[in-house]
Amino acid sequence: EFIHELKGLNNMEKTLRDRLKLKKVIVIPGDVDNDQLIKKDMGKSAANYLKSIIKNDSIIALTGGSTVMEVANEMPQSYTKSDIMVVPARGGLGRDVEKQANTIASVLAKKLGGSYKMLHIPDNIGKEAIATLIIEPDIKSVIDILKKADIVLFGIGRADVMADRRNLPSSTRDYLEKAGATSEALGFYLNINGETVYETPSIFLTKDDLKDVKNLIAVSGGRSKADAILSTCNSGMVDVLITDEGAAYEILKSC
Ligand code: F6P
Repeated sequence: EFIHELKGLNNMEKTLRDRLKLKKVIVIPGDVDNDQLIKKDMGKSAANYLKSIIKNDSIIALTGGSTVMEVANEMPQSYTKSDIMVVPARGGLGRDVEKQANTIASVLAKKLGGSYKMLHIPDNIGKEAIATLIIEPDIKSVIDILKKADIVLFGIGRADVMADRRNLPSSTRDYLEKAGATSEALGFYLNINGETVYETPSIFLTKDDLKDVKNLIAVSGGRSKADAILSTCNSGMVDVLITDEGAAYEILKSC
């Protein structure tokens, strides 16, 4: 709190919240681009925020990635059982196991004394294959649950980095570049104005579904991600942003 005051982070949070038209912004001192430990601080802060809004019967949908992973890691262990359910927001097998949404869902659920479900759907899978998978009873039941999420916790990446990481074909990467894709979040590739230019086929929470979610919480930091974070905030997909000073400072220069 003292460091917050000293660095003027409270003002930064309010200014960002107003300019980005969000409900709440939390800015952690430092920059993950310079120091990976800042990711843990963001994770801890996000975990505390989550704890303050979770109800005993909440359904939390989350995405993968190193930042959301820290939220689960930093969540304190609860010793009471709850009806909290944690589910992955998308398919998205394909990254390192510990950073996959399925794994993070299981870690967070155990921390919260709740339960979890997994979705075994690879990232780079075609629309036809998805159409056959989602009628499988096991998969359909998870999708039905995740559509009822009251909390969606997600990471934000740069579109170019995520397209590489997901090994998208070079034709798609060229298209993304031409279309001005700036960020990727929840499977949507967005331009700087927050408009969707491309969607990953394994999306189950559509933009319409997201409108009905009470708490859309994004966790993402690092000055290199400033434009990506701005782009996702412009899409209306974010209620609460937890970021770091490095990103916040850069974002304020361009909004
Ligand atoms: O792949 C899941 C995901 O949450 C993406 O939607 C997002 O772009 C990315 O991970 C963020 O990953 P990281 O926090 O590791 O930068």
